[in-house]
Amino acid sequence: MPDSLLEVQDLGIRFGGLHAVRDVTASLPAGQITAIIGPNGAGKSTFFNLISGFYQPTSGRIRFAGEDITRLKTHEVVSRGIARTFQTTTIYKELTVLEGVMIGHRVRTRAGLFDALLRTGRERRDQAESHAGAMRALERVGLAAQAHLPAGALTQEGQKRVGIAMALASDPRLLLLDEPAAGMNPEETVNLMALIRELVAGGLTVALVEHKMSLVMGLADGIVVLHHGQKIAQGTPQQVSRDPAVVEAYLGSHAHGGQMGQAEPGQHGGEASHA
Ligand SMILES: Nc1ncnc2c1ncn2[C@@H]1O[C@H](COP(=O)(O)OP(=O)(O)OP(=O)(O)O)[C@@H](O)[C@H]1O
Ligand SMILES: [Mg+2]
Repeated sequence: MPDSLLEVQDLGIRFGGLHAVRDVTASLPAGQITAIIGPNGAGKSTFFNLISGFYQPTSGRIRFAGEDITRLKTHEVVSRGIARTFQTTTIYKELTVLEGVMIGHRVRTRAGLFDALLRTGRERRDQAESHAGAMRALERVGLAAQAHLPAGALTQEGQKRVGIAMALASDPRLLLLDEPAAGMNPEETVNLMALIRELVAGGLTVALVEHKMSLVMGLADGIVVLHHGQKIAQGTPQQVSRDPAVVEAYLGSHAHGGQMGQAEPGQHGGEASHA
């Protein structure tokens, strides 16, 4: 069993009376792909929002690479080596692919946008470094040749890759992908899986939320199942798909979620919430 890069213990957050995530204890092994699955509203995106510092937990702790990061702000979490994509990524269609990645990266790594907007001295010094980082990220997702095209000219799959490049520009050790295959056709999904495998072969640790079971089953080393905010199962894809509690959770939510084992449960597209 490899060492865990990230560990959460009794992690929880309440919104009023709703426990969106409740008492979740789990770890993400270094160098592996862990899928976070569960019916719509299970708390998957909220779990990512907690890890990445977008939300402050109301209980529990988060440790990353041996450091307690529970109370860190988003840009501090990014600087420690955790990056994420969003269920919906806003792409600035008029900007070039390269400019979009540079701006996306800055928004994540700075406490504010003032430097970028006012073009302060620090901003100018950072420009060259930021440009190089963005180009490296575009190479990793196979978009270096498209760097100077308008982002709006890319296919849906290309735009998803831009979203991943924005996250990679901060050179993370852990990448959180929230429904990376939403809206993709089967061929695009296979290409995306190959990209994720390459990134992991290059040393990255990945956690992903995904409703497409073909992707989860074909890619994940381990799966964590959330239901009503709680972890109801964790194990290999084979173990989890046979777990009665998991089957029950998916069958019980069939009307608005999906069913374990179907190629594509949850046709909601998941494009509603940003962060
Ligand atoms: N900022 C918030 N304020 C209030 N409630 C929230 C907030 N964010 C999430 N929730 C609630 O927490 C629960 C979990 O939401 P979350 O977005 O994490 O689900 P999910 O598992 O990502 O679902 P999906 O598969 O549909 O994306 C939902 O009931 C949601 O309405
Ligand atoms: Mg979600």
